[in-house]
Amino acid sequence: MSANAVAATLDLDPIDEQGRPVVRFLRGPHLLGQTPFMAGKTLVEHAIEAGVEIPTNCTSGTCGACMVTLLLGDVPLPEPLPPGLDDFLAEEGARLGCIGLPTGDVDIDIRPPL
Ligand code: FES
Repeated sequence: MSANAVAATLDLDPIDEQGRPVVRFLRGPHLLGQTPFMAGKTLVEHAIEAGVEIPTNCTSGTCGACMVTLLLGDVPLPEPLPPGLDDFLAEEGARLGCIGLPTGDVDIDIRPPL
């Protein structure tokens, strides 16, 4: 099932009750938590606010311990890619929670794409 199909089956509202963008964390079809989007905060920082644990180690984009999957929305990739990511993983939606900065509404599966 594609990421869009997963989101569609969840019937998630991309806006919170105050009309702000929302960062959501899922494991497959299960919503684990969500928090309002905070500009300049990483995915891990959003996860902490949402009460969701994303494992971390280096917190600098090197080890890949915090790898998650971007389902919807935009978390721009750094140029060049950090050591914890490669082109194939990035194409599959992998993002590093410790350095990934969402730009607004995003849905994140806390599991890596592979
Ligand atoms: S914690 Fe090591 S890449 Fe994010």
